[in-house]
Amino acid sequence: MQAWSVEEATVLWNRPVARDTWRMALQAPRLADRIRPGQFLMLRLANGRSDPLLARPYALYDVVRLGSTGDAIGVEIVYLVVGKQTRLLTELRPGETAVVWGPLGNGFDAIPPARHLLLVAGGIGQTPFYAFAAERTGVRHYGAEQRTELAEAVVLCYGARSSDLLACVDDFSRLPIEVVLCTDDGSAGRRGLVTEAAAEWLDRPGNWVVVGCGPEPMLRALQQLCGRRGVPCYLSLEVPMACGFGACFSCAVPVRLGGAVDYRRCCLDGPVFDASEVVF
Ligand code: FES
Repeated sequence: MQAWSVEEATVLWNRPVARDTWRMALQAPRLADRIRPGQFLMLRLANGRSDPLLARPYALYDVVRLGSTGDAIGVEIVYLVVGKQTRLLTELRPGETAVVWGPLGNGFDAIPPARHLLLVAGGIGQTPFYAFAAERTGVRHYGAEQRTELAEAVVLCYGARSSDLLACVDDFSRLPIEVVLCTDDGSAGRRGLVTEAAAEWLDRPGNWVVVGCGPEPMLRALQQLCGRRGVPCYLSLEVPMACGFGACFSCAVPVRLGGAVDYRRCCLDGPVFDASEVVF
């Protein structure tokens, strides 16, 4: 198992980037130096605050580097305000602290090199794809090793209910990738489901590998779409977690292995799974 560490991390910035969506940077050099795209960290409020007691998982969005040296000094997360902890997170100001531990999970290193990558995100599911797309296009690197398995083409299909919920689109648009936006109400991009846009991209020539992150109905539709077409597909699952390192079994997900259904801990064996194994 990969080594992880606990740090008291100082907030560098914390600001809204879309409706109910915030972006926060935390100074945590040990974590920033090792975390890879698709991995996550656990975060708990500091300064003796025990309510809420449990930590929550947050996917890596990006690593903060010092302009002068390029040294990794912190991590950025993008979070949706959905409950007590995330509401309290919005109140953290620069200089205040939170407890973080990581890096955790297998990350997108579980996915073999692909010539044509189709990333499909719904809701807040675009969050882990920034670092992944930046690395596979050679724009940024993460962790100690310099990765060289670049993709020839990366497409992000990103869907939300309405335009005000789309977050960090400018960042993705600056990468050398194709960005396809979808909204339920047509207020940005094309009107309709993000999986419909994904299906159209799969009609184009390419050795596609599909990676999905988002709400379960979207992931299930993606699993079926890729299964019918025989396209390799991986899913980054969002499930509740309490410890993040395999001790509490709060994150068990059913998987089909060799014809039988078994359970895997999402924090250890995931969050990235081969879609053909996931049981919804
Ligand atoms: Fe505790 Fe996975 S979160 S075992």
